[in-house]
Amino acid sequence: MSSTDSVHSRKNPFRAALAVNRKLTGEGSQKETRHFELSLAGSGLHYEVGDSLGVFPSNNPELVELVLRELGVTGDEVVPSADAVEMPIREALTKSYILTEPSKQLLQAVASLDSAAAYLEEFLLPEEKAALENFLWGLDVLDVLQQFPAAKFTPAEFVKVLRKLQPRLYSIASSQKAVGESVHLTIAVVRYSVDNSPRAREGVCSTYLTERSGGSAPVFVHTAKHFRMPENADTPMIMVGPGTGVAPFRAFLQERKATGAKGKNWLFFGDQRAATDFLYREELEAALADGSLHKLSTAFSRDQEHKIYVQHRMHEHGAELFDWLENGAYFYVCGDAKRMAKDVDAALHEIVEKHGGKSAEQAKDYVEALKKEKRYRKDVY
Ligand SMILES: Cc1cc2nc3c(=O)[nH]c(=O)nc-3n(C[C@H](O)[C@H](O)[C@H](O)COP(=O)(O)OP(=O)(O)OC[C@H]3O[C@@H](n4cnc5c(N)ncnc54)[C@H](O)[C@@H]3O)c2cc1C
Ligand SMILES: NC(=O)c1ccc[n+]([C@@H]2O[C@H](COP(=O)([O-])OP(=O)(O)OC[C@H]3O[C@@H](n4cnc5c(N)ncnc54)[C@H](OP(=O)(O)O)[C@@H]3O)[C@@H](O)[C@H]2O)c1
Repeated sequence: MSSTDSVHSRKNPFRAALAVNRKLTGEGSQKETRHFELSLAGSGLHYEVGDSLGVFPSNNPELVELVLRELGVTGDEVVPSADAVEMPIREALTKSYILTEPSKQLLQAVASLDSAAAYLEEFLLPEEKAALENFLWGLDVLDVLQQFPAAKFTPAEFVKVLRKLQPRLYSIASSQKAVGESVHLTIAVVRYSVDNSPRAREGVCSTYLTERSGGSAPVFVHTAKHFRMPENADTPMIMVGPGTGVAPFRAFLQERKATGAKGKNWLFFGDQRAATDFLYREELEAALADGSLHKLSTAFSRDQEHKIYVQHRMHEHGAELFDWLENGAYFYVCGDAKRMAKDVDAALHEIVEKHGGKSAEQAKDYVEALKKEKRYRKDVY
C-alpha cells in the first residue's frame, strides 16, 4: 500500500498525534536538534524509507498579536484566508499567511501608502534582486509595519498582500518495518536574532512542532522516488549525512536491520561537537556492535582549532571508499545543499581521481556514470 491509498494527502492532511518530542543535542550545545515521533494510526498513510513528511505549521500567536496591534485592529475582523475562506483576521494570520519573509506585494503597498517608503520601489525593479534580498535579510512583516507606521491598511487590504503559509518537508527518520504506524523526524530548531532588534526570531515550523502544536500536527507523506534504497538488499551503501542529514540514513539502517539485508552500510556523520551534538550516538554505536552498521566515520567540526568535516573523513578513507564504489556501492548525501553537498561532491570527484588513477575529466565521467546508474542519490535542502 502507498500513501496514495489514503484519503489523506497534501490537500487533506492528517492530524497526527505527537507522541515524542525530545531534545537530541546535549546541555551546552549551540544547537537545538530534536527527535519527534508522530502517530499515523487510523490515517491509512504509509511511507517508504527515503520519503519526507510534510507538516503544516501555524504562526506564533505572540507574533500574530503584535501584528494585530500594529495594524490597530481587534483581530475579530473577518477577512478571506489564502484559500478564500472567510475567517477572523487573527485566525487567518495564525494559520494561513506568512508573517516572516515580507512579500514584494507588501513592500509595493507600503511604498504607495507611506511617502517615507517610496524608496522601496527601487528594490522591486527586476535588476535590483540582490539589493532586495539584502534589504529583506532578517526582516519580517512586523518589522516592515513598524518601520513605516504611516502605511495604514484595512484588514482586507493587508491580507491581500501576504503570501500563503506553506508546509515544510522533513526527511523521515524511521522505517515502518521497525516502528509500525509511527513516523520519526530529526529537526534542527531555527532560532536567531537580528541586529538592532530585541525581538527573538524563529523558524515557523520547527518551533511549531517543538512548542506550539498542542499535541498534534497536520501532516502528509511526500514521496521521494529519487531517494530510495538500492533495489538489491546485498548492495553496499555509503551514506553522507551530517547534522539533520542523518535522518533518512537512520531510516535506511532500521529498514536493513528489520529485513535482515546483507548489504554493507557505511555512514559519515558530522556535527559541531562530539560531547553534545552526536545525534543518535547510542543507536549508531549499537548498530555498529550488532553488525547492522559496518562502518561509522564521524567529523566533529568544533572539537579542534581547525574545521573537520565529513568530506575530510571521506578523503582519509579515500582508497576504501573508492573500493566500495568499485564493488557496486550506492552513494547517498543528505543535508545542507548550499555548502556541504557541493563540497562532498567535489571530494567524491577528487577521491575517484586519486584512488582510481584517473584524470579530472575521467573522474567527472565516472561520477556522471554513477548518477546515470542512479547509484548517486541526493536529498539536500
Ligand atoms: C526534502 C527536504 C527535507 C528536509 N528535511 C529536514 C530534516 O530532516 N530536518 C530539518 O531540520 N530540516 C529539514 N528540511 C528543512 C525544513 O523543511 C525547514 O526548511 C526547516 O525546518 C526550517 O523551517 P522553519 O519553518 O522552522 O523555518 P522558516 O520559518 O522557514 O525560517 C527559515 C528561514 O529563517 C531565516 N533564517 C534562519 N536563520 C537565520 C539567521 N541566522 N539570520 C537571519 N535569518 C535567518 C532564513 O530566511 C531561513 O530561510 C528539509 C527540507 C526539504 C526540502
Ligand atoms: N540551506 C540552508 O540555508 C540550510 C541548510 C541546512 C541547514 N541549515 C541551517 O542549519 C541549522 C542546522 O542544520 P543541521 O543540524 O542540519 O546541520 P548543519 O548546520 O548543516 O551542520 C552540521 C555539520 O556540518 C558542518 N558543516 C558546515 N559547513 C560544511 C561544509 N561545507 N561541508 C561539510 N560540513 C559542513 C557543520 O560545521 P560548522 O557549523 O562547525 O561549520 C556541522 O559540523 C538549521 O537550523 C538550518 O537553519 C540551513
